[in-house]
Amino acid sequence: MSEIHPPLAGIIGFPVGHTKSPMLHGHWLKRHNINGYYIPIGLSQPDFERGLRSMHLLGFRGVNVTVPHKVSAVSLADTVTDRAALIGAANTLTFRPDGSIRADNTDGYGFIQNVKQICPEWDVTLGPALVLGAGGAARAVISALLTEGAPEIRLANRTRARSEALKEHFGARVHPIDWNRASDATEGAATIVNTTSLGMVGQPELKLSLNAAPDSAVVIDIVYAPLETPLLAAARARGLRAVDGLGMLLHQAVPAFEVWFGIRPEVDDDLRRAVLGQ
Ligand code: ATR
Repeated sequence: MSEIHPPLAGIIGFPVGHTKSPMLHGHWLKRHNINGYYIPIGLSQPDFERGLRSMHLLGFRGVNVTVPHKVSAVSLADTVTDRAALIGAANTLTFRPDGSIRADNTDGYGFIQNVKQICPEWDVTLGPALVLGAGGAARAVISALLTEGAPEIRLANRTRARSEALKEHFGARVHPIDWNRASDATEGAATIVNTTSLGMVGQPELKLSLNAAPDSAVVIDIVYAPLETPLLAAARARGLRAVDGLGMLLHQAVPAFEVWFGIRPEVDDDLRRAVLGQ
């Protein structure tokens, strides 16, 4: 098959120009001498289904999907993994030989693998997790933390109704708290995660005091531009372990690359440098 079609994969989003995924998969393709391509594809919502259904014919093994297609990808797929169904969104689609579509979500996996790689002694079961934000990224993070055994999720979001909706979805271990009480909720937390866009380039800073957090707390920001957000800088200044968001992006791509191109790739410093354009 690969003599006829070089293996293809890509990412569909709108807009899609800013994505780092082509650099990331491109690095692995080169590293493993695979004569394949990973292509960014800008398709808006009305064209998504038609475009997606033609990709298998064009030689694509699969695609990542990003904003605004993560939720609709689940309803278009023929099969959906348990974790994608639990999150209610997909980021990885694979085309089977008959053209049918399998939807998976590797964001939560990427989140967990990143924290474990940077901070091997992290133990999510040791205490509550404080999660800031209740958007799409929070759904993946909460789902993964619960699966890993977090005893409690303290969930703070500016719009309280969204955290209440996540409690309905994920169940009794999720405890919505007021946005302006988030600093108090660091007390006793084993894990503290920012899933909001606050702290990202061009966005306001996240105002969270870490004074009450235990010395053993691990602080994670899923923002990766900048790599060192004010939250992570504050965590390090307090002597807490801090994990940046780039690794989540890198690790979520591992299962996709493996299923599309047949080799399980490594997340290492070379990859980080390639993706950062260094
Ligand atoms: P994603 O899919 O990347 O999580 P999203 O669904 O737009 O994106 O969610 C963005 C998150 O950042 C939300 O939790 C949002 O809070 P609201 O639900 O109240 O909108 C949070 N967020 C964005 N800007 C914020 C701000 N200025 N202050 C507080 N929270 C903010």
